[in-house]
Amino acid sequence: MSLLDITDLSIQYSTNEGSIDAVRNVSFSIGENETFGLVGESGCGKSTLAKSILQILPPNGEITNGSIDLNLSNRSVNLATTDTETLREMRWDEVSMIAQSAMNALDPVYTVGEQIVEAIQIHEDTSTKKARERSRELLDTVGLDPERIDSYPHQLSGGMRQRAMIAMALALEPSLILADEPTTALDVITQDHILEEINSLKKRLGSSMLIITHDISVVAETCDRVGVMYGGELVEVGPIEQVFVNPEHPYTLGLLNAFPTIEGEERDLITMTGSPPDLSDPPTGCSFYERCPYREPRCAEEDPPLTARDGGENDWRTACFVSGDGEDIEATYKRTLRNQDLWKRL
Ligand SMILES: Nc1ncnc2c1ncn2[C@@H]1O[C@H](COP(=O)(O)OP(=O)(O)OP(=O)(O)O)[C@@H](O)[C@H]1O
Ligand code: SF4
Ligand SMILES: [Mg+2]
Repeated sequence: MSLLDITDLSIQYSTNEGSIDAVRNVSFSIGENETFGLVGESGCGKSTLAKSILQILPPNGEITNGSIDLNLSNRSVNLATTDTETLREMRWDEVSMIAQSAMNALDPVYTVGEQIVEAIQIHEDTSTKKARERSRELLDTVGLDPERIDSYPHQLSGGMRQRAMIAMALALEPSLILADEPTTALDVITQDHILEEINSLKKRLGSSMLIITHDISVVAETCDRVGVMYGGELVEVGPIEQVFVNPEHPYTLGLLNAFPTIEGEERDLITMTGSPPDLSDPPTGCSFYERCPYREPRCAEEDPPLTARDGGENDWRTACFVSGDGEDIEATYKRTLRNQDLWKRL
């Protein structure tokens, strides 16, 4: 049992044009003190998955299957089905979220201080004076001048707002922090500073973290484990050193190849051709079939299940028929996987 166990999770959006299968049968776990990175192209379901953990999906979004078990020292709660009261207790205190845009996440009509104090007082019987003192300390910790406590969100720059958001997310020392592209809107220097701050605070608090980012180098530097999503499914999951150094899934390889620097290694940049599947009508076979240089006839008919690699050690799993067909084929596959010309042929 890990801190968070997500099992067979499926999420659907209803629209006027029909339903969208945004997340399909996803299972993974996040351990104590672990940082788990979630990567994948735009629209593959990352934010939908993160929002479902706190049940903050938009009104047309619904968990149609699966469980999200948060296993705390004194109790376990299935966040997918639990009641609103329990969810309210859990938010900020046990699970908090650093959203992509702090402007949307912070309330424009209250000062930063009022919002952090409120978050503290909902969960703790603390005087306003004490909660304000703590808020000032928190702002200082995240690199924001404590005098900013009485500023309204619109009086702060994007970087300052993001820092205020982080202070709020960490105020109650949650067990799990969800960070959905926490620095995307910021310049590169501020991004680096803020990521460092999130990381060191996370370590100090002993929290676990789910971080969603488009920046593969951030994942390589900060995460213990990574999940690769494609077309609403998890196609590869495991420790960073396995998934990023010896990727087994063709999509993971394609994703890594699209980035210039992984641990200083030089690669030719290769862009994957084609586009992800239409989630309003997901394919019956492998979701990567249309773009895969290694596809076989069977891949169009059957959906490959996530299968353990490395004899099941380290919970490394890949959803691909070709890379799981036995040692010899796997070795051949790994060689061909590195043959980047295959991508160019598509
Ligand atoms: N409220 C909604 N109603 C209908 N469809 C939605 C809604 N929100 C998201 N979707 C669809 O669900 C799928 C997953 O979206 P999601 O925002 O989770 O992707 P993402 O991986 O976070 O993408 P990005 O990297 O761009 O943030 C997409 O096809 C998206 O168009
Ligand atoms: S199952 Fe087939 S189509 Fe899917 S990634 Fe593997 S080789 Fe490619
Ligand atoms: Mg998103």
